Amino acid sequence: MTPEIEIVTGDCREIDASGPFGMILADPPYGDTSLDWDRRVKGWQAVAAETLQPTASLWVFGSLRYFMAEARAFEEAGLRYAQEIVWEKHNGSGFHADRFKRVHELAVQFYRTDAAWAGVWNEVQTTPDAVQRSVKRKKGRPAHMGHIDAAAYSSEDGGPRIMRSVIYARSCHGRAIHPTEKPVDLLEILIRTSCPPGGIVCDMFAGSGAAGEAARNAGRGYVGFEIDHTMANKARERLSAKLPLVSA
Ligand SMILES: C[S@@+](CC[C@H](N)C(=O)[O-])C[C@H]1O[C@@H](n2cnc3c(N)ncnc32)[C@H](O)[C@@H]1O
Repeated sequence: MTPEIEIVTGDCREIDASGPFGMILADPPYGDTSLDWDRRVKGWQAVAAETLQPTASLWVFGSLRYFMAEARAFEEAGLRYAQEIVWEKHNGSGFHADRFKRVHELAVQFYRTDAAWAGVWNEVQTTPDAVQRSVKRKKGRPAHMGHIDAAAYSSEDGGPRIMRSVIYARSCHGRAIHPTEKPVDLLEILIRTSCPPGGIVCDMFAGSGAAGEAARNAGRGYVGFEIDHTMANKARERLSAKLPLVSA
């Protein structure tokens, strides 16, 4: 059976915890600009933490400025940092002429403070671009790092390498439905990493519903929350053009 894909119009802070969700995604407004729609949303982290299963991850998009400003909110909600990836874009925003042209954003993985990392569902992603064939690759274990799990992994077809944490993906510039739309390919990597097959992805700030498309590509279900009615309808339109949606 095809997992369900659904866009709910409303505030994600009023989530009816109809989960359990396999993972939670959040791409909130970063609040880095003075644009009208770019206002930080307060209190969503506590809702995410309450909804998050002990085996599940929360992946959050943001700028370093955003994470520094909100660090306390994550901590007080009982969310622990696991790792981050850098999304490298093909173009970027030039808000300031006196700084580097910004061609990246972060996505940070959190899990519940009262959960153990070893119990968090995690499918390490690989790329088939290694040059040597049939080797058992070993990850170094520097003494100062203490215990690191999974220090060795087997090469299955002479190729796979652990995916790098800097991931290039073309931004949606020119074809985006939402001004800060995230690429489906990138979202699919996060979903395959953290949502078990057949699980449901909860997207707290759905925007264009890009993560719904990624979830469907990965064979996962999806519930996206979007507060803006017009955008929620656009997301539904986008998803129903490709996928059977459950009723709104
Ligand atoms: C950064 S955008 C998300 C873009 C989305 N990831 C995409 O790829 O299209 C943030 C979205 O969150 C929505 N939003 C803001 N506050 C919200 C809330 N409290 N609950 C649900 N959605 C909210 C905004 O309307 C906006 O569409």
